[in-house]
Amino acid sequence: MGSNAQAFEQWIRTSFVQMNTELEDLYFARPDRAQVIGCGDSIKAALRDEGHGFVVALLAEGNTGEGFDSAYGVLGSVGLYLGALRRHELSNPAREQRSPFAEASSLALHVGASLGVAPRFATAHLATYNKAQAGIRKSFTSLRDEFLFIDENTRGILSLQCAADALARIVHIGVSSPVADVLFDAAKQALRDVVRFNGRLMLELDVERFFYSVRPYYKPYRVGRQEYRGANAGDFSGINEIDLLLGLCRANDPYYAQLLVDKMLFMPPADQARLRDCMTRTSLLDELLALAEQYHRTDWFQRNARAYLEVCELFGQTAAQHHDGLVRRFIEAPAAALGPGDLSGITASGPPLPVLLRSLEVLRDMRLAVDRPDISNRHADLDRLRRAL
Ligand code: HEM
Repeated sequence: MGSNAQAFEQWIRTSFVQMNTELEDLYFARPDRAQVIGCGDSIKAALRDEGHGFVVALLAEGNTGEGFDSAYGVLGSVGLYLGALRRHELSNPAREQRSPFAEASSLALHVGASLGVAPRFATAHLATYNKAQAGIRKSFTSLRDEFLFIDENTRGILSLQCAADALARIVHIGVSSPVADVLFDAAKQALRDVVRFNGRLMLELDVERFFYSVRPYYKPYRVGRQEYRGANAGDFSGINEIDLLLGLCRANDPYYAQLLVDKMLFMPPADQARLRDCMTRTSLLDELLALAEQYHRTDWFQRNARAYLEVCELFGQTAAQHHDGLVRRFIEAPAAALGPGDLSGITASGPPLPVLLRSLEVLRDMRLAVDRPDISNRHADLDRLRRAL
């Protein structure tokens, strides 16, 4: 990593965090915690101007071809900087036609386009591609609830990736293989871990601190002329690999295919490649159903179909937890207390909250294979498989 990139990284891990944390404490002490305009102006100006100095130096240097890690790290840093400026209302896409931060936008566009990803920070920058230096990883603030949120998110993502890895390996040995047991077991264990991490978040995350001091950094913002939706913990391929491999969601379903297309550029390039590969595979459910009539009395069918259904059960549990335990508790409930003016930009993707909640419900119900005639789902197919046992 070059010295300009290193200096920017160092600032992001130190002064940037201190200034954001001070601002959060000021906002949080106000009678109306959602009101951030006109508060802490000198700190906001210092944050903007100090960051600008690093950005200008990096922009002048150009893309130095120092490899993926360095470029993705720079994109993360400039993205965190722009995300913080948005959070502190130094920019707001609803008021502007283009980002007021021309140099930061150019840097993000240059690096993002060269890597084949959206030119903004994504969850991976704070989670799976956030390299700790002597125990310190990048963050916006040093608030306990931000670390709790991002660390449990990352543990959840890593575990879902482990489950996806295990299921993807079954493709190559075939769902009738006697050794698929070890992979089904690994997937189940990983999903039990996700249930555990979600449970900890539900119990330990402070609703108000999360809603007022952490979530606002994930809002959409403009890079150049275009507005990019915010980051969310779903921007990795593992969750969709599980959807597709289990067959609970299908890549030829127009609703689901649109979702995959929309999120593709928010994922790291390696995830994009994994997801594309997955979209070409036959799901485990379709494979089992094709074998059911002829082989349902065999030991291998009974064992592997049962293990498959147990994986689905656990995966459904994680989806229900996300929606009913996390989204409802940490977004929907506190949003109900806000006035209409404060509601804009609450969601990371931009649509009004009720619209977003309905679309998240659809995903939950597909993953639970609920009997819902208004959405495409595998309820009847899972029933068929259960009856074969
Ligand atoms: C306090 C904790 C959490 C809250 C409040 C929350 C909330 C949300 C919201 C509101 C969205 C929709 C994106 C948007 O705002 O436009 C979303 C998407 C998503 N989140 Fe979370 N989330 C939390 C934790 C997690 C964790 C721990 C995971 C798993 C590792 C996760 C996985 C996902 C996924 C995969 C999506 C994309 C939609 C989908 O495929 O289901 N989230 N989340």
